[in-house]
Amino acid sequence: MKDAAPQPVFLRDYTPPAYLVDSVDLTFRLHPTKTRVISRIAFRPNPAAQDRRFFLHGEELTLLRAAIDGTKVTPQTDTEGLTCTVPDAPFTWEAEVEIAPEENTALEGLYMSNGMYCSQCEAEGFRKITYYPDRPDVMAPFTVRIESDLPVLLSNGNPVAQGTGWAEWHDPWPKPAYLFALVAGDLVATSGAFTTCEGRKVDLNIWVRPADHGKADYALDSLIRSMKWDEQVYGRAYDLDVFNIVAVDDFNMGAMENKGLNIFNSRYVLASPQTATDRDYDNIERIIAHEYFHNWTGNRITCRDWFQLCLKEGLTVFRDSQFSADERSAAVKRIEDVIALRARQFREDAGPLAHPVRPESFTEINNFYTATVYEKGAEVIGMLRRLVGPAGYDKALALYFERHDGQAATIEDWLKVFEDATGRDLTQFKRWYSQAGTPRLSVTDDFADGTYTLHLRQETPPTPGQPDKAPQVIPLAVGLLAPNGDEVVPTTVLEMTEAEQSFAFTGLDARPVPSILRGFSAPVVLERETSAQERAVLLAHDTDPFNKWEAGRLLARDVLTAMIRDGAAPDGAFLDALAAVARDATLDPAFRALALRLPGEDQMAEHLHALGHTPGPLTIHTAREALKDALAGHLQTLWPALYDGLACPGPYSPGAADAGRRALRLAALSHMARLDGGAQARAHFAAADNMTDEIGALTALLEIGAGTEELDRFATRWAEDRLVMDKWFALQVSLAAPENAVDTARCLTEHAAFNWKNPNRFRAVIGGLTMNAAGFHDASGAGYRLVADWLLRMDAANPQTAARMSTAFETWPRYDSERQALIRAELDRIATQAGLSRDMGEMVARLRA
Ligand code: PHE
Ligand code: ZN
Repeated sequence: MKDAAPQPVFLRDYTPPAYLVDSVDLTFRLHPTKTRVISRIAFRPNPAAQDRRFFLHGEELTLLRAAIDGTKVTPQTDTEGLTCTVPDAPFTWEAEVEIAPEENTALEGLYMSNGMYCSQCEAEGFRKITYYPDRPDVMAPFTVRIESDLPVLLSNGNPVAQGTGWAEWHDPWPKPAYLFALVAGDLVATSGAFTTCEGRKVDLNIWVRPADHGKADYALDSLIRSMKWDEQVYGRAYDLDVFNIVAVDDFNMGAMENKGLNIFNSRYVLASPQTATDRDYDNIERIIAHEYFHNWTGNRITCRDWFQLCLKEGLTVFRDSQFSADERSAAVKRIEDVIALRARQFREDAGPLAHPVRPESFTEINNFYTATVYEKGAEVIGMLRRLVGPAGYDKALALYFERHDGQAATIEDWLKVFEDATGRDLTQFKRWYSQAGTPRLSVTDDFADGTYTLHLRQETPPTPGQPDKAPQVIPLAVGLLAPNGDEVVPTTVLEMTEAEQSFAFTGLDARPVPSILRGFSAPVVLERETSAQERAVLLAHDTDPFNKWEAGRLLARDVLTAMIRDGAAPDGAFLDALAAVARDATLDPAFRALALRLPGEDQMAEHLHALGHTPGPLTIHTAREALKDALAGHLQTLWPALYDGLACPGPYSPGAADAGRRALRLAALSHMARLDGGAQARAHFAAADNMTDEIGALTALLEIGAGTEELDRFATRWAEDRLVMDKWFALQVSLAAPENAVDTARCLTEHAAFNWKNPNRFRAVIGGLTMNAAGFHDASGAGYRLVADWLLRMDAANPQTAARMSTAFETWPRYDSERQALIRAELDRIATQAGLSRDMGEMVARLRA
């Protein structure tokens, strides 16, 4: 069994668990290398199961003893778990195992981070803590006793009792093992309280290391706002007496929604104006909300199996974006979400790693916490809501909570509540869950006798294992503008269901300018020949903020395309159009800042590839820089005006209004730097009293190849702050000139503070390099080599973090044959490495296919 290649599991092979669990009692005697875990588990045969085989998952455990109903047993163990003969009736299983948290570098199961014990069990980490049916459809109440000299001992649920050196917790809500958590450490709390709409008083604590005390206020504030919002918008109240959040420095992901005990990557908890940027504050608010919302969408209703991951993740991402839209600017939030969706999910959908929102097989589930499952999963719910309307959505959600509370559910269950609540047939809509790839929607139009007709054609390109696609349901929000910019037809939602379909609008005086896919109403690529003039009308007049921004983005993309492909000069009309938006004081500064952001180099590579071109990454980089320079020069009087006019009076506040002003002001500063050699940016850096301004100025300097001194000063000032130093590492790699990027990254891996086993630090440097498109794709292949070296090294310590980073190679099909060969050589080198993890083995196999 040990050396056999890991086998994939299939959705279609699901069978119910042979045994159910009525209760779990765990005792932990914590020790860095000899932790004892004693389990008492009440099992009962599952009447719904076909087979009676008793199997418990267990990995890297030393089994010391086992007993059934008090009688010692000797189970058969292998590397994946154990089997044992058991009674054909309810029985109590007892086992004692030993584990070594200090040696756990994979950060899955029970591990140590800076002297504190913490756990991470999603998706299949509980099996590294004790023997258990580690699958989400086995749910049970947990009682946990922790024995340790450390002062703070936490687990799920409510505190039961505690004394010197021990504490007991009880979680009354049946939960799958992946939601189990334990924390023990020398921690201090920022505390608050919340009384739910049901009258329950809840103690709130955000636990951090003593040195970080005082940096959890914003997280606490975000938590309280999230709790209120979920009551008001979804009618969901919290259900325990205490809600604990712990900040941990070594964490593979963003955060984890363990019942009553969320564990966070410290970068998504800790903030002060001096150390966190506006973006950090934004992320903290969003992720605190996300994990909190999981309490209902994920915990109270969980997933039957891991194929249903999008059931909790897509829905919870959708809910957290609704929250952010409500707390901040809905328009800006939507635009930012779409930028991220296109950069990460469209890219995934277009490459060798494309998979459906609900995958049908996997070898390692950790490889499927993807932009497709999360972000496309959320888009699918947004489409559903648009199709059934807000009232239909609310009705369906109420039914979902009523019908499935306490259950492990499926996508079929989810869609059924929408069908039952609204009477709509969702058979075709379900394809969004099973078909991978981004649909291409081509649009042509005609106008005659006052009737304007849109002709639509949808086609989804082939993806691995899915050569042919059927048409999907595409909700298309459309509005029409008159040539002078007046809106003549307000937003209507067209429902496209066929491969080809036409929609007519009658009674028009003149040929309108269509505003298609308003609010980005479906995750598709819109293909339409549009004149620059039409785009200018939309950019100036569209009432839909998303499409107003989109018009500017398309103009920029076309200008860049012409520069890259044909060596064209920057287009003056485009510069003027952008200037008009930038100086329009009636527009939200945050929106204006987004409009000034040019499409990224990676986006341009993808777009040009779709058009059949393979320009060198350096050509793309150079053209984009030239366009930025042109923009800087063309608007040289505007930048100082914006800069001077947008200073935020008063002390720093992370709120949307001030953050928007800073964003636009820093955009102005970065353009000024291209004209004054960085003088203003240097002054800005010196005067900065918050991290947003400090990083903004530093970015402006690095972008023009300056900032060496400032980098040094920054490092001296922040040497003791690991989260700020992550920024220092990341920034200089991702903004290095392409020819220096690989050397910069290599040099930083030799820096004394490059603690590569810390995932944040690893991602800062190695991830930073992969984000420097022209540097990573350097023709020499040095970038590929360096990243592959580090993937191999990291894989031996932490497969999950290494495998995630391997997605840097997913864009290989869009490069020239020399680069493709270089990438392939690195993938081959990884694939043939002895002892490769299951995570990385699956990733390279998919990448190479
Ligand atoms: N379930 C977590 C979330 O989305 C993500 C996560 C997955 C964290 C796996 C750790 C491990 O909120
Ligand atoms: Zn989540």
